[in-house]
Amino acid sequence: MTPPWRTDTAVVHLGRPAPIPGHPLNLPIEPASAFFAGGDIEYARDGTAAMAALEGAIGTLEDGYAVAYSSGMAAATALMDTFPIGAIIIAAPHLYTGVAERLRQLHTQGRITLRVVDVDNHVALSAAVKGAHLIWLETPSNPMLEIHDINAISTIAHAASASVLCDNTFATPLGQQPLRLGADLVLHSATKMIGGHSDLMAGIMVAQRQDMADHLREQRVLLGSIPGALECFLALRGLRTLSLRWRQAQTTAHELATRLVGHTGLSAVRYPGLPTHPGHKIAESQMSGFGTLISIDLHSADVAETLCTATSLWVHSTSLGGVESLLERRRRWPLESDLVPPALVRLSVGIEDVDDLWADLDTALTIAANGT
Ligand SMILES: Cc1ncc(COP(=O)(O)O)c(C=O)c1O
Repeated sequence: MTPPWRTDTAVVHLGRPAPIPGHPLNLPIEPASAFFAGGDIEYARDGTAAMAALEGAIGTLEDGYAVAYSSGMAAATALMDTFPIGAIIIAAPHLYTGVAERLRQLHTQGRITLRVVDVDNHVALSAAVKGAHLIWLETPSNPMLEIHDINAISTIAHAASASVLCDNTFATPLGQQPLRLGADLVLHSATKMIGGHSDLMAGIMVAQRQDMADHLREQRVLLGSIPGALECFLALRGLRTLSLRWRQAQTTAHELATRLVGHTGLSAVRYPGLPTHPGHKIAESQMSGFGTLISIDLHSADVAETLCTATSLWVHSTSLGGVESLLERRRRWPLESDLVPPALVRLSVGIEDVDDLWADLDTALTIAANGT
């Protein structure tokens, strides 16, 4: 962290412009495509000061070299674009729907060979990784909230000369730093916790190696998936309060998960902070906190749908990581994996009062269970 800053300080100050008297404290929003010739920047698709500021901030927090994109999917597909034809890619069974689908498409098109492997079965993974280019995982995973051992998986991958990509969207750069645990690449949908207000789309790929980041940045000029000036501004603006939001939402999520256990309206509560969660010990060792998402299994898909429309404070909406608490039944999306239970509802916990959130959820669970 530069200078010797702790994380709470770093999120407030990283990515600010140089302190020039009379200039603003924050990076100004510059809506520009073309710049006068002869300077460092001539055309916005080549990279702008706003992109560089966001990249510098997230790169520092993740201890790597960051490249910013127009969405999390843009970052993901930019990396997929670097896969050599015929590359063997290992995917964990539960990945974000869009990522999983695009990997499947590349496989169907004959551009890669996709192997879906239980990355927690290290014997099976060691066998499957031979000849592979990359292992793609998410921890905690969306929406099952599985926890994978980043260090152990990276050791297995590196022994076979494969790389590891860890999607860190759910943990944020504050909750987990996968590069420090051995991963080679980190993906963020900055649309989520980093932005934090459900008002922007952006993505970030962080590479452990500078040459990889340089390559991605060069390719981004050709792929064209750059974040706009406003989006970079909003992402940096969101970052300023990430520590506070992360702490508040996590504490609330933990409390709600604990209250939800044993609720008669449910059949399961998935939250890595619960001692009964199969990944609890690994989460404890590789994360700081347990995240702001909870998934609950209702008694049927119909009951789950009723729950989503029965709340008055929790907002029925997709996405996650905003200041407002959201919920949705993930299997309502046609591309969602059929490994996800049809009655699973994902709760994205915001920063509202815990008792208000509980009262609303408890009432809605009772309404859903009674079918009224
Ligand atoms: C874990 C994860 N990774 C990547 C993405 C894609 O990000 P975006 O929606 O910003 O393209 C999402 C979106 O929900 C996500 O949840």
